[in-house]
Amino acid sequence: MSRNKNFYEEYSEPTLLKLELFRRYIESWLPTFISKVTYPKIYIFDFFAGPGCDKSNNSGSSKIIIEEVSKYLKHENIRLLEIKVFFNVFKKKNYQQLKMQLDSIPRNGINFEVANKRFKIIFNEWLPYIQDTTSVCLVFLDQFGVKFANREIFKSLTNCNATDLIFFSASSTFKRFKDHKNILKYFPDLDTNELDHIDNQHIHEYIAREYYAQLPCARNGYLGQFSIYKSPNMYGLIFYSNHPSGIEKFLDIAWEIDSKHGCANYDFKGGRQENQLYLFDSTEDKLLTKQEAFGKELYEYIKKGGKTNHDVYKFSLLKSFPPKIVNEVLRNIQREYNLKVIKSDGNPAKQGGFFIGLKKQKCKFIIDGKIKN
Ligand SMILES: C[S@@+](CC[C@H](N)C(=O)[O-])C[C@H]1O[C@@H](n2cnc3c(N)ncnc32)[C@H](O)[C@@H]1O
Repeated sequence: MSRNKNFYEEYSEPTLLKLELFRRYIESWLPTFISKVTYPKIYIFDFFAGPGCDKSNNSGSSKIIIEEVSKYLKHENIRLLEIKVFFNVFKKKNYQQLKMQLDSIPRNGINFEVANKRFKIIFNEWLPYIQDTTSVCLVFLDQFGVKFANREIFKSLTNCNATDLIFFSASSTFKRFKDHKNILKYFPDLDTNELDHIDNQHIHEYIAREYYAQLPCARNGYLGQFSIYKSPNMYGLIFYSNHPSGIEKFLDIAWEIDSKHGCANYDFKGGRQENQLYLFDSTEDKLLTKQEAFGKELYEYIKKGGKTNHDVYKFSLLKSFPPKIVNEVLRNIQREYNLKVIKSDGNPAKQGGFFIGLKKQKCKFIIDGKIKN
């Protein structure tokens, strides 16, 4: 994934992983809006599209979008919707290759537009489509390096209604070039002293949190990240959605790919985490896994009192845990503690029933001491 001219010879394993995550997100995102017609316009933007594939015919981002959108060419709702995919391809040769591919596929009312411009120019041209309040959008910024997904771009995209954003970041660049004029220009808020204390395996997660910190407090959004190691550097994807369903989908995929930590293509533990926590029991020298640390945080959160399943759902999404994993964690808590879930009719839910998810009936959560053996 380095800035080198062999990028399209054969995608590296980490690049294929990045593309796999992107594919799975479209696969999960697109049907939601096609089957329900909640928005009349569905727009997908690939601002750094390549020629379509590498020389071994592995699909790149643009081909992945075409393949996923093409699955719906015959869907009965297509005539009720305006579906449009926007590709920007910087290099002339790649632009022509992608145009040729698009000319050969059936469209059936689905529109594809291909531009051949610098990001800065095309971003301003296409931004009004993303800002259109009647459209739902997915924006992919598959840049080399870091500079295009800067503070200004991140702010304008996260301000748009119903827009999910996925972007690539070569995050170790921030550490290596922290004093470089471009880093200081595009990311003026970075605390360069703090960067010195972040180890390589947590740098991408740290950068993702820095992006999140830029959001205005009133912005109720959700952030996800997936760290991708390719020796010797750390890269990754950063995800943002204003909607809980968006982050839930992203997290489901991230946990399917990394069932241990839900966030990396390497063993995430072993470095210092944000708040290094220890197990419930007395093995105080054991570093907690992400899931164990979250279990402890969640226990403390519920124990404070006054929490509902809706609060637990939101709390968990903000900590990057999707309902499937939260249920496991809650079952563990319930094995040790008297965790009661009281349904809206006043009756207790059965053991193991937690109602974590969007639009579930509201339930109260109560922790009432430890289970006696
Ligand atoms: C990581 S690659 C994109 C890979 C592509 N998404 C794929 O899956 O095959 C980044 C691309 O950004 C393009 N690029 C470089 N500078 C650019 C600029 N100023 N504006 C738009 N694209 C640019 C490069 O030509 C390169 O193809």
